[in-house]
Amino acid sequence: MTASVISAGPIPGTGRAAQGAIELRQVSKHYGDVVAVDELDLTVQPGEFVTLLGPSGSGKTTTMMMVAGFEEHTGGAILIDGKPVDTLPPRDRNLGVVFQNYALFPHMSALENVEFALRMRKVPRAERRQRAEEALDRVGLGKMGGRKPRQLSGGQQQRVALARALVFNPAALLLDEPMAALDKRLREQMQEEIKTLQKGLGISVLFVTHDQDEAMAMSDRIVVMRDGKIVQSGPPEEVYNHPMTDWVASFLGDTNLIPCTIVERNGEEAVVDLGGLGMAKVRDRGANGENYAVSIRPEHLKFRTRVSAGNGCAATLVSSTNLGATVRHRLTAGGHDLQLRELSSDSVAGIRPDEELWVGWDADKAQLLVLES
Ligand SMILES: Nc1ncnc2c1ncn2[C@@H]1O[C@H](COP(=O)(O)OP(=O)(O)OP(=O)(O)O)[C@@H](O)[C@H]1O
Ligand SMILES: [Mg+2]
Repeated sequence: MTASVISAGPIPGTGRAAQGAIELRQVSKHYGDVVAVDELDLTVQPGEFVTLLGPSGSGKTTTMMMVAGFEEHTGGAILIDGKPVDTLPPRDRNLGVVFQNYALFPHMSALENVEFALRMRKVPRAERRQRAEEALDRVGLGKMGGRKPRQLSGGQQQRVALARALVFNPAALLLDEPMAALDKRLREQMQEEIKTLQKGLGISVLFVTHDQDEAMAMSDRIVVMRDGKIVQSGPPEEVYNHPMTDWVASFLGDTNLIPCTIVERNGEEAVVDLGGLGMAKVRDRGANGENYAVSIRPEHLKFRTRVSAGNGCAATLVSSTNLGATVRHRLTAGGHDLQLRELSSDSVAGIRPDEELWVGWDADKAQLLVLES
């Protein structure tokens, strides 16, 4: 693992505990006929890392711009630390912001770029320099303050943008796809560094991504958005393992969706008829609709021996593909195509296409959901 270059610690010269509660109440944004954000209810607790996850055009940036104060909302109210901010200009909202296309001033050095945030806030010159240097140190760029943006790599520029967002000791950070321009390795490194920094400072973060792995890795809570609305929110594991709709299930990764009819619902559990796959006990979150399915992630489907208790069915292997760390098996069972994924190290050697097998899953890993699409 790469060593972290961003150091976390108390915010220099302040001794202040970070606050940063953000609350959106029924917030909407209409551009003429376009409803970009539709009556959004959202809270970020002090110190919490909340991620807006959704496809392109789902209203993530618009939401961030309204919280930051660069766009006016057309309905509802936005509160920061309990106070309405509707009439506050961006610089008085005490939020550090890294935009989707974070633009550094090309004619200014890294240090001047960071200082600029303090100049805007009328911090005296001597203090400005010192605080900007400390902020660059914090993101591991202490020695590069004199360089212009074009003399820095994409990852380094991204760190300057982060230093600029942190330098005035904001109550919360708004980060809109800050790592979109970075390659996978650097991205993962920055994810860890931002997480370390956030935990160390106890600062709240509202983060935007359309990358589900990034959302899973970083968030205390994921808020899934679609067409300007929240479709589900919760801790990453919960949203991933217990999606309410097929759309959420598919947006968060590969899944097996098996249409079903409900036989019985008892609070958190339901008994369903999976057609050719027989009856099964599954998790129920109470989603209601016209058509239902059960979602089972490929990694939760397991090869079993026929005598195993619990949910399961006979299956025929169609193909196996080694993907490096994992092996993907395609199967048919009861007229359905299924995907089973296992770690290469756990993979049973010698199973052949057309072989009759038995697959099963734990009831708490099978989620009853509503078929929307
Ligand atoms: N100034 C504008 N005028 C009209 N429509 C706009 C304007 N800004 C955004 N929209 C629309 O609002 C919707 C939400 O846009 P937004 O930029 O918030 O999406 P996003 O979730 O950030 O997408 P992406 O992942 O592509 O960044 C889109 O349909 C977009 O076309
Ligand atoms: Mg956006």
